[in-house]
Amino acid sequence: MTIIKSYKTLNLNGQILVPGDKSISHRALILASCAIGESTISNLLESEDVFSTLKALKKLGIKIKKIKHNWHVYGNGLGSISGFKGLLNLGNSGTGVRLIMGLISGSNSEVTFTGDNSLIKRPMKRVIDPLTQSGAHINSSDSRLPLTIKGTEIPLPVNYTSDLSSAQVKSAVLICGLTSSGLTNYYEPMLSRDHTERMLKFMGAEIQTTKFQSNWKISLVGLPNLKNVHFDVPNDPSSASFPIVSALITPNSKIEIRKILMNKLRIGFLKTLIEMGGKIEVINERKSNGERIADLIVQTSNLKGINVPAERAPSMIDEYPVLSVAASFAKGITTFNGVEELKYKETDRIVEVVKNLNRLNIKSSSTKNKIIITGNNNQLIKGGIEIDSKLDHRIAMSFLCMGFMAEQPIVVKKAETIQTSFPNFYKSMKQIGANLY
Ligand code: S3P
Repeated sequence: MTIIKSYKTLNLNGQILVPGDKSISHRALILASCAIGESTISNLLESEDVFSTLKALKKLGIKIKKIKHNWHVYGNGLGSISGFKGLLNLGNSGTGVRLIMGLISGSNSEVTFTGDNSLIKRPMKRVIDPLTQSGAHINSSDSRLPLTIKGTEIPLPVNYTSDLSSAQVKSAVLICGLTSSGLTNYYEPMLSRDHTERMLKFMGAEIQTTKFQSNWKISLVGLPNLKNVHFDVPNDPSSASFPIVSALITPNSKIEIRKILMNKLRIGFLKTLIEMGGKIEVINERKSNGERIADLIVQTSNLKGINVPAERAPSMIDEYPVLSVAASFAKGITTFNGVEELKYKETDRIVEVVKNLNRLNIKSSSTKNKIIITGNNNQLIKGGIEIDSKLDHRIAMSFLCMGFMAEQPIVVKKAETIQTSFPNFYKSMKQIGANLY
C-alpha cells in the first residue's frame, strides 16, 4: 500500500505538465482497433486504466505497440474481433469495461469481464439494458461484474432512451452499433462528453447529434468505413483540475498548464471556479484533431461560495471532489446540485467527500442530489488525519491538494490508485512546490 503525506505548502509556481486525456486515450485505442490498417496515437495517457484497455484489446487479438513516442494500433476492420472466448480484467476502469462491453456485444465472441474491488461494485445494468437490445446475451448475478457477454456478429440496431447522461453508456451503444447494419439511435437528457462521436466522425463515420423533444439524439449509421488515422491526445482537463484548485487555494501561487482539452462538455469545472472568483486565464486557444485546446494561467484567488446548477453536472462530473476542496476555502456556502451520479463512481463520492470534509472541520452535508459546503474563507485547516482513498484516484488527489492548506499533514492511504489516471501526479506537483512526501 502506498501512503502519501501532504503538508502545508507556501506557494506553487511554474509550469506543470498534465498527462493525456483519459477518456480520449481509451477511445483512441478502441476505435483504432476497429479501423483497417495502422493508426498512430501521440500523447496517449500511459496510466493503469488505459493500460487495462490496451491489454484487453491485445488479448482480443489486436496488435498494438509503442515505437519511439507514438503508439501504433494495427486494426483489422469492423467485425475482426471474432471467435475469442475468455476472461478480460479491466482493473479499476469503468470506461474500459463499459466501452469494451459494447465492442464484444457487436462481435462473435464470448467474454467474461471482471475488475478490481472498486469496479466489481459499480452498476452495469445501465449498459446491460441497451446492449441486450442488440441481441447480445449478457449474464450476471446482480448486474455487476463478473458478467459474461456472448456477442452477436450482426447486432440489431439499438434504439435506446437513457434517463442518465452517461458518456460510457452512450459510447458502449455506439461502439456496438458499428457492426450493425442499421441506424443506431441513442437518446440522453443532457449531452454527455462527445469524444466518441467526434472521433468516429474524424474516422469517416456518419454520426449526427440533434435535439429530439426533451432529449439529445445521437444517430450512427452502421458499418461505416473507418479510416486509419493519427490521434494526438490533448492533455486531460480532469487531471489539470488538481493543480488548478491547488494553485487557487495556496497563497502566492501562479502556475501555467499547457495544451489542455477545452471541450465544452468537459470544462464545467472551469466555469464554476471562475464564477467562484478564481483567477484563471485561458490563452492560446486553438484546435487539435477536431477538439479545442488552450493554455491556462492560474493564480491564488479569494473564492466565494456559489450555487452550481444541476444542468452543469455532466460537464464536470469527475471534478466534484476537487471542487469540494475549493469550496472548503471559499467565503460562504457552495451548493452542488444534481450530483446523484457521484454515488456510482470509483467510490460513493458523496459519502467520501462529505465524511472526510467534516473530519477536517469543514461543515458539509448532502442530500440524495446535493452536496452543501460551508467554506472557511481561506483559513488553514488543522489537518492531521488519515484518509483511505477506497481505491478512488480522485478522492486520493483531492485530499492531498487539501493538505497544502493544513497545519498538520493529511495522510492518504492506498494512494497507488493515483496511477490509474495521473501517474506523474506526485512528481509533477512537487516540481511546482507541493509539499508531498
Ligand atoms: C467517462 C465518462 C464519465 C466519467 C468517467 C469517464 C468516459 O462517466 O465519470 O470518468 O470516458 O466516457 P459516466 O459516463 O458514467 O458518467
